[in-house]
Amino acid sequence: MSVKIEDLTVTFRNGVTAVNHVNLNITNGIYGLLGENGAGKTTLMRVLTTVLKPASGKVSLDGILYQEGNYEKIQRKIGYLPQEIDLYSSLTVRECLEYMGDLSGIDKEICRKRIDYYLEKTSLAAHQKKKMKQLSGGMKRRAGLVQALLNEPDFLIIDEPTTGLDPEERIHIRNLLVDFSENRTVLFSTHVVEDLATTCSRLAVMKKGSFLYAGSVRELIEKANGHTWLCSVADERQVRELEKQYPITSKQYLDGTLQVKLLSESKPPIGCTQTSTSLEDAYIYLMNQNQ
Ligand SMILES: Nc1ncnc2c1ncn2[C@@H]1O[C@H](COP(=O)(O)OP(=O)(O)O)[C@@H](O)[C@H]1O
Ligand SMILES: [Mg+2]
Repeated sequence: MSVKIEDLTVTFRNGVTAVNHVNLNITNGIYGLLGENGAGKTTLMRVLTTVLKPASGKVSLDGILYQEGNYEKIQRKIGYLPQEIDLYSSLTVRECLEYMGDLSGIDKEICRKRIDYYLEKTSLAAHQKKKMKQLSGGMKRRAGLVQALLNEPDFLIIDEPTTGLDPEERIHIRNLLVDFSENRTVLFSTHVVEDLATTCSRLAVMKKGSFLYAGSVRELIEKANGHTWLCSVADERQVRELEKQYPITSKQYLDGTLQVKLLSESKPPIGCTQTSTSLEDAYIYLMNQNQ
C-alpha cells in the first residue's frame, strides 16, 4: 500500500490556503501527522478520503489517481475516523455500526462478523447494547474506530483520535492503532507529540499548510541531538531570563534544585550538561528553527 502526494495545494473559497504545495510518500505502518491547531492536518486528510478536491497537485493510492471515476475504487480501500464524529446518538453501539455497514453496502452477514470481531478487539463487546450517547469520549472514539474498520481498509485515516481522552484511554487507542497497522497503512494526526513517540516510526510535521519535516522519528531526534541542555538554575528569575533567549522544554525541581531543559546550538554560559533529546525536544527545536 502506498500513497503518493505531489505538489498538493488546497485553497478554500474564503481564500485560506490550508495545504500549500505539499509532497509526501506514505507506505505501510503508522505514519504520524503532527502539527498545531490550524496547521492543515484535517484538510490534508479530507483530500485523502476524497471528501475534498484539491486546487492543484496529484494524489494517488497504489497508483490509482484521485480523479472523477476512481473515487469509488479509492473509497473502498479507505477507512476514516473524522476529528468530529457524530454517530447516531439514540442508536445502540451495535445498531449504529450495523447501520453504518449497511450504508457502506457491506453484506449483512459479513458485517455482523466484522462488528463482533472489532468490538472484541476494541474491548467494546460488553457495551454494545448501550446507546451511543451513553458512551464516554474514549468509548465513542473506539466505536468510531470500529466504524472505520468495517470495510477492512488498506488505508486507515485517523484524525486526532486521542484528543480529550484520559491517559489510560489514550494509551488504549494508541495501542489499538498499532495492532490495526499490521499489514495496513495508518495515517494518524495529532497535536500531541507524546502520541507519536510510542506509536510510529515515521512522521510529517506540518505548520501553516507546509511540511517542516517528513521522515523517520529517529532522524528528527538526531537533528536536535547535541543541542539539548540540562541546566541547574538559582531561582525563577533566572528561568525567566533564560526563557528570553532559549526555548525551554521542561522545568522541574530535582533533589531540591531547579533544573531546566533548554535548546541551544551551543553550550549556554551557565552550569549545564548535554542531555538526551526526546521527540518533544526535537519538535520544539524544529518549530523554533522555522518561526
Ligand atoms: N471549510 C473551510 N473553509 C475555510 N477555511 C477552512 C475550512 N476548513 C479549514 N479551514 C482553515 O484551514 C486551516 C487549516 O485547518 P485544518 O485543516 O482544520 O487544520 P488542523 O486540522 O491542523 O487543525 C485553518 O486556518 C482553518 O481555519
Ligand atoms: Mg484538525
